[in-house]
Amino acid sequence: MNRVIRFHQIGGPEVLKLETVEVGAPGPGQARVRHSHIAVNFIDVYFRTGQYPVPSFPSGLGSDAVGVVEAVGEGVSDIRVGDRVGYLLGPLGAYADVRVMPADVLIPLPDGISDSTASTLIMKGMTAQYLFRQVYPLKGGETILYHAAAGGVGLIACQWARALGVNMIGVVSSDEKAAIAKAHGCAHTIVSTREDIAQRVMEITDGQGVPVVFDSVGKDTLQASLASLQARGTLVSNGTSSGPVNIDSRMLAVKSLWLTRPAMVHYAKPRAHMLDMAKELFDKVLAGNIVSEPSHVFSLTEAGQAHRLLESRKSTGAIVLMP
Ligand SMILES: NC(=O)c1ccc[n+]([C@@H]2O[C@H](COP(=O)([O-])OP(=O)(O)OC[C@H]3O[C@@H](n4cnc5c(N)ncnc54)[C@H](OP(=O)(O)O)[C@@H]3O)[C@@H](O)[C@H]2O)c1
Repeated sequence: MNRVIRFHQIGGPEVLKLETVEVGAPGPGQARVRHSHIAVNFIDVYFRTGQYPVPSFPSGLGSDAVGVVEAVGEGVSDIRVGDRVGYLLGPLGAYADVRVMPADVLIPLPDGISDSTASTLIMKGMTAQYLFRQVYPLKGGETILYHAAAGGVGLIACQWARALGVNMIGVVSSDEKAAIAKAHGCAHTIVSTREDIAQRVMEITDGQGVPVVFDSVGKDTLQASLASLQARGTLVSNGTSSGPVNIDSRMLAVKSLWLTRPAMVHYAKPRAHMLDMAKELFDKVLAGNIVSEPSHVFSLTEAGQAHRLLESRKSTGAIVLMP
């Protein structure tokens, strides 16, 4: 029997239940993966609370884990038994000891990257890759505004920005988080609980504003993000940790702004492209530009506690569950 975290209704962390289910042999095109580490991401909170709908109840949770392939189904040729893999696409259900997955979403892990490091990278590092290299390709030399800079995606984004020669202004909620974001490569930090974000951005940029804002916080930071942009700047609204955003096109018209709301699923396909993205990320890690380990480790049975920590705004870096 396999342990799995499921939920039967939307709600607080208490709806996450430890249950057991049968896991069968993989069918055609599938592989069975035994997890070593399961990553907790803010998107898991969106599904648990109903901000994003789940296909049906009871539902599994999680879409980001690493482990070893223990069986493959018919027709699977590029993934073998014994391969170390990670994934970030596919059906919900990563909060489990073992599961059957479509083989074409599995990403082989290179020898030089441990499972522990990989568990902090797959979703979070690939997000930094697609934001900085695809959604708004950074050339180096730009000054950018980035929200939740000490978070899971944030600490990798800080390091990626530094490697690109980008001046990142990171927004965080405490001085402790500011110190961590700076140590990871933020050129400047703004502590949102005591500083006016847009005013500080204008001071740092000599009144120019920034060409791009990466805003994963959403409702609470929308106005500050718009006010921090220069004319014809771009708002990348890549998350809604504080709640969804409602934008009236007149809010963009005042400075001829661009807006995009990107989702990984549209950038990490087809498979060959996803593997290229992963290679670029892994190369950055193998070259020493990005160093990443879990900041908070829980057992699979403590998934609810992990969610409470993520929502409390007290976490920094990556949160991981161990089966
Ligand atoms: N679009 C995509 O494809 C994609 C992919 C991956 C992640 N994301 C988004 O990127 C963001 C970061 O994800 P993550 O998993 O690494 O989470 P995270 O950044 O580790 O955790 C959330 C952080 O957001 C900040 N925050 C601000 N307002 C908050 C609120 N009301 N409630 C909770 N946190 C709040 C907190 O930092 P401070 O205390 O410093 O403010 C908190 O520590 C999320 O919004 C996620 O949805 C988007």
